[in-house]
Amino acid sequence: MPFILKVRLRALILFALIPSVLIASDSDDDDRKSRRSSKSFRSSQSSESLRSLIQSHDVDAVDTPEQNPKHVALGRLLFFDRIICGNQDTACATCHHPLTNTTDSLALGVGTGSPSVNEVGIFRVRGEEREFIPRNAPDLFNRGSVHWTSMFWDSRVSTESGAVVSPAGDALPGELQLPLQIQAMFPPTSRDEMRGSHEDVFTGNEIAAVADDNFKGIWEAIFNRIIAIEEDQVLFLDAFPDVDVYVLDFQHDAIALAAFETEAFGMNDSPFDQFLRGDNQAMSPAAKRGARLFFGKASCVDCHSGTLLTDQLHHNLAVPQLGPGKNPLTGLDVGRAVVTGDPADEFAFRTPALRNVAATGPWMHNGACSSLEDVILHHLEPDDMLEDYSPRQQLLQVDLHSTVVTDEDLQEVILDGSEQVDVDLDRREIRDLIEFLHSLTAPDLSARLQALIPDSVPSGNLEDGLGQ
Ligand code: HEC
Ligand code: HEC
Repeated sequence: MPFILKVRLRALILFALIPSVLIASDSDDDDRKSRRSSKSFRSSQSSESLRSLIQSHDVDAVDTPEQNPKHVALGRLLFFDRIICGNQDTACATCHHPLTNTTDSLALGVGTGSPSVNEVGIFRVRGEEREFIPRNAPDLFNRGSVHWTSMFWDSRVSTESGAVVSPAGDALPGELQLPLQIQAMFPPTSRDEMRGSHEDVFTGNEIAAVADDNFKGIWEAIFNRIIAIEEDQVLFLDAFPDVDVYVLDFQHDAIALAAFETEAFGMNDSPFDQFLRGDNQAMSPAAKRGARLFFGKASCVDCHSGTLLTDQLHHNLAVPQLGPGKNPLTGLDVGRAVVTGDPADEFAFRTPALRNVAATGPWMHNGACSSLEDVILHHLEPDDMLEDYSPRQQLLQVDLHSTVVTDEDLQEVILDGSEQVDVDLDRREIRDLIEFLHSLTAPDLSARLQALIPDSVPSGNLEDGLGQ
């Protein structure tokens, strides 16, 4: 069609429309207004009913407890400092880096002994003769919330009903009461994550020489290193003015780390949290439909319950077994049963919290799923997902492909004890659920996280980068 003709046609159509607009009476106008306002009334009413539905499950906007700013500042430096690691090549940030949204974007991470000391995320390469870390590095969002009573995929750190349980038993300093503080005592004790192997003793790693069950000895050896640095000594004395320099120990390191994690990764302004605080426009219509499913028909809230969207209990979802496992004899990871020894807990893992979940893949306790769609499909059809599992499709690191357990008898055992989300969801409903999961992401997440990376740390260990 020639251009001019097109323009004329459009003008004609426009012209034909004008009179009806012009002659629209006042009463039509009123009609339209009232239609519009009744629509917005209906939508605010339905937002109200959604909010009540969510709150009827004891879900509230998430909290971020106030922290001592000096603890936070010290904790930030410790979090990025490789000095805590026996071989001085791995920091907390190595596996929980801001650039990878407080995790490492790997199914299974790489600990000490890696040649890629200054790399994060997918650029981390496993060192020779080193194992993968057996479980997926969880995100650290909102771990300082008062609602937490457990840490780790198997809750081996727990403060439920006020009783402190941890792998260190009586060796744990009694002043530590918060799960996040207690957790921070343990990464440096793990040989694969931070402490180093028996062989590393020969390359000057004095911390690797301490016996595995001598927790006090390990903590003392690490703290001696830290406090020997003058700048660290000044910072510790300033942050803990009531504690004598001879009484300072690794628990003060843990207190500072937890304060930093609480403040830095405490994010309470996701669209979902804003919606819970009364902003009806914060969530998109699709996210609201997803929320109705999550807290209704799809019964996700049966396990993803409470403010943190986790019951902090353990469930076997029949996620494929992969990686080195927790038991060198079987090569398996039986999850909660590692702690309790109870066969009923086999292959059960703690329900994950879900704030910022869309940014923290791969998902599941061993990173077996690389998309939220597959995560949801796995909940719905565990047998199919387990039998047809494709490490390539799930973008598993190549070295892990051969570790996926395909033994049918074992799969039967896992499935026998598993729980399934027994509901039919169509494509659109799954899309809406995913939209809901995205509404749990805090605004400007990447920029806020990136701002946390310090330029340097007292030991001088950060001068070459770690993601800078
Ligand atoms: C080599 C990688 C690695 C390093 C280094 C590391 N972590 Fe982790 N982190 C993990 C993995 C893997 C888990 C889960 C382990 C499990 O559940 O058995 C975890 C769990 C946690 C958790 C528990 C979260 C939850 O929801 O239960 C916190 C908190 C945490 N790490 C903080 C830290 C701190 C603080 C440091 C430094 C002192 C640190 N991590 C060092 C990999 C690492
Ligand atoms: C029976 C309890 C239960 C129900 C019901 C449930 N989940 Fe889960 N969910 C879990 C457990 C347990 C895991 C971790 C399993 C593992 O890694 O072995 C998990 C993992 C997830 C993850 C991955 C999180 C991460 O950080 O790795 C997402 C996302 C998720 N669930 C969303 C949902 C949605 C959406 C629904 C509703 C369709 C749902 N869940 C229903 C228990 C449940």
